[in-house]
Amino acid sequence: MGWYCLLFSSVFVAYWVPAGCYANGKVTKACGSMEPKHGSPAQTTQSPYLLTTNTSTFSPGDHIQVTLSGISYFEGFLLQARDAASQGSASTTGSFTLTNPHRTQLLTCNKQQGSAVSHTSKDRQTEVVVIWNAPKDAPSEVEFFVTVVQRYNVFWVKLPGPIIYQPGVTPRPPQSTTTLAPVQTTTSSLLPGPFTSDSCGQSKSCLLDPVGCDPEDPYCFFLSMTTEGPDKTSVMFELSGPAEGYVAFALSWDTWMGNDDVYMCVKDGDKVSVSAAFVSGRTHPEDQTQAGLSSVSWRLADGTIQCKFSRPVKMANQEPGRYDLDQECFLFLASGHAQYGKIWKHNQQPLVSVHRKCVTGPSEVLTGSRGPTIMKAHGVLMLLAWMLTGSVGTFIASFYKEVWPNQTLYGQKVWFQVHRGLMMLTMTLTIVAFTLPFIYRKGWSKHAGVHPYLGCCVVILTLIQPITAVFRPTPDSHRRYLFNWFHWGLGSLTEIMAVATMFLGTHQSSLLLPQPWATYVLIGYVTWLASFRFMLLIHKHFHIKKAVVSDELQELYSGQSEPSTWGSFTKSFILAALALGNSGLLVALLSSIADI
Ligand SMILES: *[C@@H]1O[C@H](CO)[C@@H](O)[C@H](O)[C@H]1NC(C)=O
Repeated sequence: MGWYCLLFSSVFVAYWVPAGCYANGKVTKACGSMEPKHGSPAQTTQSPYLLTTNTSTFSPGDHIQVTLSGISYFEGFLLQARDAASQGSASTTGSFTLTNPHRTQLLTCNKQQGSAVSHTSKDRQTEVVVIWNAPKDAPSEVEFFVTVVQRYNVFWVKLPGPIIYQPGVTPRPPQSTTTLAPVQTTTSSLLPGPFTSDSCGQSKSCLLDPVGCDPEDPYCFFLSMTTEGPDKTSVMFELSGPAEGYVAFALSWDTWMGNDDVYMCVKDGDKVSVSAAFVSGRTHPEDQTQAGLSSVSWRLADGTIQCKFSRPVKMANQEPGRYDLDQECFLFLASGHAQYGKIWKHNQQPLVSVHRKCVTGPSEVLTGSRGPTIMKAHGVLMLLAWMLTGSVGTFIASFYKEVWPNQTLYGQKVWFQVHRGLMMLTMTLTIVAFTLPFIYRKGWSKHAGVHPYLGCCVVILTLIQPITAVFRPTPDSHRRYLFNWFHWGLGSLTEIMAVATMFLGTHQSSLLLPQPWATYVLIGYVTWLASFRFMLLIHKHFHIKKAVVSDELQELYSGQSEPSTWGSFTKSFILAALALGNSGLLVALLSSIADI
């Protein structure tokens, strides 16, 4: 059962959620500019799309068919009708009616319902047909505009479509559609070579992961900050890391993701785009822009992605979400995959600086951690509970009932007292550890795969065990054997599930242990435990056989107790060896938790 869950859940662990980013077409934020803030500049080449109407003249109240078609597919669009006479005005005119409500939707721009149309999902399409309804107060000439997103970072902004006229208006000379001015013109240059951490702590502040790594090394995450200019009014940032897709850093008031000022270097083919954005929650960055960034340069070589840029300490036109750099805040360092320049959720917990840092403050070498303390505590307590106390506790109940027959501990058999004590400890540790992720996430962890579900099952079973034990039948009851089987069965199931949960736990993003090392340690633990159980099962089997054979002999020799003493000594030794081995493997995992 545990193994099945393990297999099943590894599929879930490998699964992650791509960023949403208005794939649902609710793009009313872009009503005015019609720009999809996707971070990269709009295309300035001839677009592969065509906007047509089924008429060139109209009267108020008319219904006009508007068609957007492409020789190439598109994932998203935003269509509006505007007064052609007042170029530059962002106000829309008239309203639309949909012909395919599944693939298209009406938006409210300028407080006018249905004044724009967009996509409903990023499913590819090549044609959209809608009806434009001319209002009573329609301007004498109306022009259609469309922004088309082919894929995330390939889009054409506000492509002019046909102009339609009321009767009696002289048509304008046809406009050339290729004279679109480029929307953004941030020039970036290539970096001459890799960054260096030489002057870290002297002329610049640095954050490195792993500690002391060399930014030339493709596994090294590196962020440096240098105050520039005679008045120290701007800061130069250097950011580099493995060229998987993107590297990013964020400024945050707290150690949680949300309300953060983010700077990203995103790989797109053989180029890198550098942009700033805002993260409002545990979500995709919003309002990607290059505004405020200067001296942008980048390099994509030797398996690393590097970028460098400057920004003023205080932004001139108070852009929402841009932090002032002379305030203390935590620094985050994240990385992940990117496709067509669109970033995916970071694939490991971001590195968070251990303390707050004022970016313009004195130069220092900062350290960070990818494991939040509260999650580390969760891991430590759970591993302690299930690799040591729970494991030894159940082992004693399985094989040590006949050992130490003559000694008692607080009026009960030794094995029973030890078993009960260890299991109570296991339960307490489990319950305390169980609450910690909920405190950390302030609720249920949505993207944690099967681990939390399996963990909940373990906790429930852990709670059922002592309850059934309290109400167990007396030893001489004829129903006692039922309890024994039930207690053993439930206990074994709980332990197997707990082990499976531990395997999954080492892959959790909020406490990602080094892989595959951590998995090997756990496999080692399972093998270690299984071999001890196997050894004692064999021993038990032969012991009973021998006891049956020697029964009559023992009567003759009036029962010698020597073999029993010898047996209990060996078994105590075995128990000590088991506990020692478990502790060793446990310490190995705990030290790796301490390191992240
Ligand atoms: C254009 O299409 C609309 C809607 O299908 C229709 O009502 C209108 O009559 C058409 N106009 C012309 C000139 O074909």
